[in-house]
Amino acid sequence: MDIYETMINRRSIRNFSDTKISDDIIERLLEAANNAPSGGNIQPLSIILVEDKNKRNKLAEIVGHQPWVANAPLSMIFCIDFNRVKQWAKIHNTEFKGEQSFSHFLIAYADIICAAQNIVILAESYGLGSVYIGSIIESINEARGIFSLPRYVLPLMILSLGYPKSKPEKMPKLKRNVIVHSNEYHEMTDEEVKKAFDDKYGDFGGDPKEYFKKAYIEVLEAEKQGNDAIVALASEKMKKLDIANNAQFLFKLRYPADVMVKLNERVFEAFSSAGYDFS
Ligand SMILES: Cc1cc2nc3c(=O)[nH]c(=O)nc-3n(C[C@H](O)[C@H](O)[C@H](O)COP(=O)(O)O)c2cc1C
Repeated sequence: MDIYETMINRRSIRNFSDTKISDDIIERLLEAANNAPSGGNIQPLSIILVEDKNKRNKLAEIVGHQPWVANAPLSMIFCIDFNRVKQWAKIHNTEFKGEQSFSHFLIAYADIICAAQNIVILAESYGLGSVYIGSIIESINEARGIFSLPRYVLPLMILSLGYPKSKPEKMPKLKRNVIVHSNEYHEMTDEEVKKAFDDKYGDFGGDPKEYFKKAYIEVLEAEKQGNDAIVALASEKMKKLDIANNAQFLFKLRYPADVMVKLNERVFEAFSSAGYDFS
């Protein structure tokens, strides 16, 4: 399969077989990550490999009991690592203050995602599947404890990998012309925006399972993998919140605006515990 086909056919995989990934393939994936672009080529990245079953279970637990994190034979935790860079600067009688520079932070976050995405695509080409787990940002302190991460090391993304047992349907995407602007930004009218998202999601006619299929696939996967109550719970919540369309589904139920803003406190506190201060 060529690279284009690999990219177009990729899906997030949440149902993994027990088959281990060979050391040879893991080495190649890591080499691909290590050769990803890096701002200033500073490479402020550390990757924690998690294969130990007990640690996989703990990791799954702290990211909100996502069963695929426990079931995947390998998870990789992508960390911004200013610890090593600061140490190097100090050895040479200079100073690196990435932990106080939001610019360095933004570039470093881009770095770790470039590395992770190299792995996603190479893994896909080897017949592996993967899923990003972004919700680790809600449990940075817990992850730092479990994996003995020193000061200035921030675990910000997980990639869980393994051989797929099943592949979900293609997730809906916006049409390409919605996200691409030629030479200057083209602001859309309300009608155009509504149509863009209607085209993406379609009309679900109030059926919770149809919403989950297109915009909360995690709930359906979790039910398949043993969490019997989750679909009923989410459906009940939809009713209670009187969800009438997909935007409300996403921003009243899945990512409620007030909860998302409140989350700042937890994230900033974890940054502060790791020695980061952008104030
Ligand atoms: C930044 C980021 C965070 C994500 N976090 C999670 C997560 O915590 N759990 C999960 O099951 N999937 C997670 N995903 C996967 C998305 O749900 C998935 O990419 C999206 O539904 C589109 O589906 P596709 O990857 O199959 O195209 C994440 C993806 C990204 C890019």
